[in-house]
Amino acid sequence: MGLLLLQTLMLPLIIPSSSVVLGAWLPSPESPNHTPDALFDLDAPPNFDWISHHDWIPAALVVNSSRSPCPMLNTLANHGFLPRSGRNITKDMLNTAQVTVLNMSPDLASKTTNAMVAKLGSPVNESTAFNLDEFAAHDATEHDASLTRLDEIQGSVIDVDPGLVHLLLADSQEPWLNTKSIGRSRFRRENESTAIGSPVLSSAFTSFAQLEASFIVLIFGLGGGDAIDERWAPKEQVKEWLNEERFPIDMGYNRSEIALTIDLQQSIINGIKQSYQELGGK
Ligand code: HEM
Repeated sequence: MGLLLLQTLMLPLIIPSSSVVLGAWLPSPESPNHTPDALFDLDAPPNFDWISHHDWIPAALVVNSSRSPCPMLNTLANHGFLPRSGRNITKDMLNTAQVTVLNMSPDLASKTTNAMVAKLGSPVNESTAFNLDEFAAHDATEHDASLTRLDEIQGSVIDVDPGLVHLLLADSQEPWLNTKSIGRSRFRRENESTAIGSPVLSSAFTSFAQLEASFIVLIFGLGGGDAIDERWAPKEQVKEWLNEERFPIDMGYNRSEIALTIDLQQSIINGIKQSYQELGGK
């Protein structure tokens, strides 16, 4: 709770590029009568319009539902931002959900969608609709050494494994995850995977897994800037999200007020890769 309060108070200080924050100090040529106080409104209530009318209903309560190895696709379906059945999903639906629900830039959303859907193979076009469980295609979209799912030789690659979530959180000594802890987690999971007899992850999947993992810091992280390892994703939010596939509003999560860009994600990926390689990862 203390951390959340601290974040709320520090948010304008640790994201100096926010126009709202800059506006507190800079005169506005368009509206010379604006006083700084009117712009720097720390008391403004957080806006949760984006999630109103989108209650969480777990997949287990939805008849014949389809779910994926991706915690965020499942979350979007559990809140009805994608069809709750997880069926007949189009690329447009994926793009719209990422932009409107997560405030990803349109460029980042379509890059993510295209990268993922292309792996399903052809024909892939605007008219193609798929079910979420199709993303469990092993060695196409799904791979071993996931952060939160068992390997193919162990069991379900779709259902979250709470023990793995526990280990992911334990890779950080702090109350949050960051690029450094996630790099450690990626290194640990690849070692655990080969130790139980799964094949070594290809370099392509090693990189792809770092990209997927970067979403944790991108979506749930606050702060950072030049020092990307200072972007912190609160553990209590990440835990609820991953275990329940639910937006952790009760733990203080809210959608980013700033559009999340390709450049920001790339710097998070670079941070994860550096941490992974410092441990001896390929
Ligand atoms: C079109 C959009 C997306 C598709 C099709 C997609 C699909 C996938 C798939 C197939 C995996 C499984 C890889 C594996 O571990 O075997 C995955 C993992 C993951 N995805 Fe997504 N994803 C999408 C967008 C997102 C977004 C926006 C987030 C934001 C939080 C996200 C978060 C994650 C995370 C954290 C993992 C790693 C899970 C783990 O290693 O256990 N994904 N995604």
